[in-house]
Amino acid sequence: MRRGSILQLVLIGVAAGAIATCVAVFIPWLPTPASRQAGRIDFVYWFTTWISLFIFAVVVAIMVYAMINFRAEPGDWSDGPPVHGNTRIEIIWTIIPAILVTAVAIVSAIVLAENGKAGTNPLVVKVVGEQFAWQFQYPNKKYYPILRLPVNRPVKLEITALDVIHSFWVPEFAQKQDAVPGQTNELVITPDRTGTYDVICTELCGLGHSLMRSSAVVMNAPAYNHWYASTLSAPTPPTTGGGTAVATALFKNNGCSACHTFKPIAGATGTLGPSLDNLKQAAQAAGQPLLAYIKQSIVQPDAVIAKGYQPGVMPGTFGTTMTATEINALVAYLAQNTN
Ligand code: CUA
Repeated sequence: MRRGSILQLVLIGVAAGAIATCVAVFIPWLPTPASRQAGRIDFVYWFTTWISLFIFAVVVAIMVYAMINFRAEPGDWSDGPPVHGNTRIEIIWTIIPAILVTAVAIVSAIVLAENGKAGTNPLVVKVVGEQFAWQFQYPNKKYYPILRLPVNRPVKLEITALDVIHSFWVPEFAQKQDAVPGQTNELVITPDRTGTYDVICTELCGLGHSLMRSSAVVMNAPAYNHWYASTLSAPTPPTTGGGTAVATALFKNNGCSACHTFKPIAGATGTLGPSLDNLKQAAQAAGQPLLAYIKQSIVQPDAVIAKGYQPGVMPGTFGTTMTATEINALVAYLAQNTN
């Protein structure tokens, strides 16, 4: 039998560990955390990953070392020697994993407890999921299609749904929470990095599921306070700029693309509701002026039902979840761009 050396064993282990470490470190598996909770989860992730990398290196080293040094000679069909066991090794491979698993459990439990704490004065935002859009209700009782949050202040999200089960997820915030009809689930987030992140529905909820997206905008405190104050004093649109940009954002953020086809907006190819490319014709058929017809169709979707479609499918809440200015901007935009 050929015999290896401790040096050979160590070299194999170092090589295996180095390769696995490169895979873990140089491939961006997770986005950079943008909240304190995500930072803690990131810590648990790397704590567990480093332990796993160490165990992987040890296992691969012993396995490859044994394959190289203890393989049977060609033509050797004899049985290996009977081995009963090795008490010392068995104690080692029981105690070390037990310590590591306990450490992972303790670290996870601490992070879980910390991530549930909202402090004494959190900003409370109600999150409502609905096929296929998100709405965010602030302490002023108004609904907004975009989640705006001040940086470094704990936020308690009270998450619910109106129709089926959805799930709230911002990858940079790391946590997911189900939005269930008739139930309020809480999620605490303390954003610690300004920027704009995707709000994603991560529970299959129907045909428009993949388009059920919004944005979470983390702003510095003065910018947030300015925005919030401005929405209190006047029903101005939450987005800056005007005209097409605002209307396009409203169209996307309210989930219209999921159900309606509308050529001027990329990705608006839904077929659950009627196409919006021939609204002039539809208004004429309903005997109404174009602007009034479009506004009615948004605010009271069941007033006129297009041929071949069902009442009760489109949410009847847009009249309360959008401000009058927003509705007018959207109506004007649709009127200008339809045929
Ligand atoms: Cu809502 Cu998927």
